[in-house]
Amino acid sequence: MDINYKKFPCSEADAVIIPLFEGKVEVPNEETNRFLDLIKAKGQFKGAKGEVISFIRDLGGNLQDAIITGLGKEEELSSEAIRVALSKAVRKAKELKDKRIFIKIPENSKLNYYETAKAVAEGLGLGSYSFEKYKSNNETLDLSFSLGGRDISDEETNNINEAIEEGIVLVEAVEIARDLVNEPANALYPRTLAEKVKDLGNTYGFKVEVKENEEIKALGMEAFLTVARGAKNSPKLIVMRYYGDDSNKDKVLGLVGKGLTYDSGGYSLKPSSGMETMKSDMGGAAAVIGTMVSIARRKLKTNVIAVVAACENMISGDAYKPGDIIGSMAGKKIEVINTDAEGRLTLADAVTYIIRKEGVDEVIDVATLTGAALVALGTTTTAVITNNNEFYGELSAASEYSGERIWQLPSFPEYKKLIKSDIADLKNTGGRYAGTITAGLFIGEFVEDKPWMHLDIAGTAWNDSVRDYSPKGGTGEPLRTLYELLKRRAK
Ligand code: BES
Ligand code: MN
Ligand code: ZN
Repeated sequence: MDINYKKFPCSEADAVIIPLFEGKVEVPNEETNRFLDLIKAKGQFKGAKGEVISFIRDLGGNLQDAIITGLGKEEELSSEAIRVALSKAVRKAKELKDKRIFIKIPENSKLNYYETAKAVAEGLGLGSYSFEKYKSNNETLDLSFSLGGRDISDEETNNINEAIEEGIVLVEAVEIARDLVNEPANALYPRTLAEKVKDLGNTYGFKVEVKENEEIKALGMEAFLTVARGAKNSPKLIVMRYYGDDSNKDKVLGLVGKGLTYDSGGYSLKPSSGMETMKSDMGGAAAVIGTMVSIARRKLKTNVIAVVAACENMISGDAYKPGDIIGSMAGKKIEVINTDAEGRLTLADAVTYIIRKEGVDEVIDVATLTGAALVALGTTTTAVITNNNEFYGELSAASEYSGERIWQLPSFPEYKKLIKSDIADLKNTGGRYAGTITAGLFIGEFVEDKPWMHLDIAGTAWNDSVRDYSPKGGTGEPLRTLYELLKRRAK
């Protein structure tokens, strides 16, 4: 669905969305208040977070849907509450087939107009997403929206326009990331992913270089190539470069996204149920690609290089086997205990590449890495491992703002013992316990003392069912958090 911001008066809208606070379920319009009184009296709507209700109202002869959505208590208002309320409301509008929507800005004492309007745009856009590409009779509804409240000054209007522009850039970047995750593995494989990224780079203004098999071999990326070897589709090393801060050309942040376009598990084969959603094993790549789109579109004053080592983890006569000992770009030898612990092998080489060949100063890797992350933190929180608490502090602040939750797990030295091999430098699994930590620390063995964060998004990249403004399927997390971290630095 395309959302467009246009200016039109409330009276010309198919629907009006009115967000209201708990205990303040009233509006300046007397007619509408009569409906609200009835709804309140029947206990159908209190203004609590996530509540939504609609009725048809008569605006002097014109009929229009009124969609009332709850923000919770005013004292507790956050951008997140606005995103959630607007996403519920826009889904209702979709259901009612409304195309032109007028939104009453929630007047409040907690957030300024900029933050309020940005959250409105995000809630609308993120909440109205659905993946319709493969439905023969999909109805793509284009939606236009306008917003207003009390008399708004010219300065506030400019502010609101700017906020909505930023909000829509983020929404569209998240849509790109979600589409990439939702695209099935027979359509999205390393070559088509690389082509898509080239298109995005051309459209939005970042450079893209794609390295083929031979070049990857020449770079010595043996761990990456070993994982890729069982697949017919050849691997691609996708490098994205954005220089928005020419005066600091030697200061560059590195993003690495896990790009398994499919993970069957290899010879340590997954059960069928575990394979069903493994087209989403490039969720880290999707988030990183979407982040590049958003920072380039907003022309952030910062320098970022992103790398995706894209491949499939498959079975064939040539595929790698449990027990194999393989090399890596950094030279470390790795004993393969389990071919389903493939992500850390591809990431180890991608991290070495981005540090040694691209010269980045800091690294953030984003990966659907372990089922253990779901066991530890569930489906709503991304797990983080880091070697630098200050760096984590920046991410944590950005995440509180974006509403995409993260939580740090410990990286005490004793955990490292779990991935030491008896016959090689490292082994690729650390046993039954602390799986998310040992997977993260495996990657940490390749960061060469650079400030580094590892984000395990196995729980948060994919939804089995809709959650607030996050749809079923690919979520795009943690794109908005990464954007926010970079934006805060760019100031
Ligand atoms: N891609 C999976 C992790 C995953 C699991 C992501 C569930 C999303 C949902 C990863 O490659 C994997 O298979 N990890 C193994 C590691 C184990 C063999 C040490 C896992 O978590 O079981
Ligand atoms: Mn796996
Ligand atoms: Zn995987």
